[in-house]
Amino acid sequence: METGRPSRTALRSARARAVHQVADSPRVFTDPLAARIIGGLESDPAPPGARAMPAEVRLFMALRQRVAEDALRAAGHTRQVVVLGAGLDTFAYRNRNPALRVFEVDHPATQTWKRERLAEAGIEVPDTVVFCPVDFTEQTAESGLVAAGFDPHVPAFFLLLGVAPYLERNALLDTARFVARLPASTELVFDYNQPPSALSPRRRPARGAQAETMARGGEPWRSYFTPPAIAAALTDAGFDGVTDIGWQDCLVRYGLDPALPDLIGGRIAHARTTGPERN
Ligand SMILES: C[S@@+](CC[C@H](N)C(=O)[O-])C[C@H]1O[C@@H](n2cnc3c(N)ncnc32)[C@H](O)[C@@H]1O
Repeated sequence: METGRPSRTALRSARARAVHQVADSPRVFTDPLAARIIGGLESDPAPPGARAMPAEVRLFMALRQRVAEDALRAAGHTRQVVVLGAGLDTFAYRNRNPALRVFEVDHPATQTWKRERLAEAGIEVPDTVVFCPVDFTEQTAESGLVAAGFDPHVPAFFLLLGVAPYLERNALLDTARFVARLPASTELVFDYNQPPSALSPRRRPARGAQAETMARGGEPWRSYFTPPAIAAALTDAGFDGVTDIGWQDCLVRYGLDPALPDLIGGRIAHARTTGPERN
């Protein structure tokens, strides 16, 4: 990220979710606030960034959100949700469960911008939302969360969407270790990028172009994992249940055309602590 500036990729993925509401059929992720939080699509239907995004890349962004929110709904007991690197994610403002606290952790510059966007869009901020400004290069998510009132003795559900590729490998693994130390029934859903070699050779140039777009915007992709490597890392971190969901799995799960090409090689990991309470 550029010093003092909100994340450009946060706007990019928020715009992808907003365009998904009106451009993709079938729609896999429904978000009535998606267009409002970015300032609407009517006045600016196709800025350059959106035009450059292939439909399948946009679809992956909608799919990872759907997978994560489906898992969150299935974890019905949850009382604490943590959205790490929240960007313009709107889950906290769609949540109507007064017993569910939602901690939004993000870089201070992005979070300040988000709060301005919420106010300008007239989106109500429920009492259940806790803003937690943290620059991961200076402070751990753990210390920021505890300072904001997160209870480390109660299970929690963590979303880390569109963030892992921008983190150094060790920063991601440190976060995974922190989450895995929390009480049993804690869950973490995040997406990660595979190395370019995971894609067919004819898809690699398009994926290289995506990586260059990110690097030019000041937010280069920094980490790549294979599914066996992510499974090993999450097990080492202390998780005892890991599901790894790929592009084809998503297409089948949500009844999409199985011939749609995988343009990024992104996958979604869903890790759980199911063993006896550790704290
Ligand atoms: C691609 S955006 C994803 C946003 C959101 N999760 C989504 O899916 O739309 C990446 C997010 O990571 C955050 N981020 C990047 N570097 C960070 C850092 N050093 N500390 C805290 N957050 C950071 C950005 O502020 C941004 O919100």
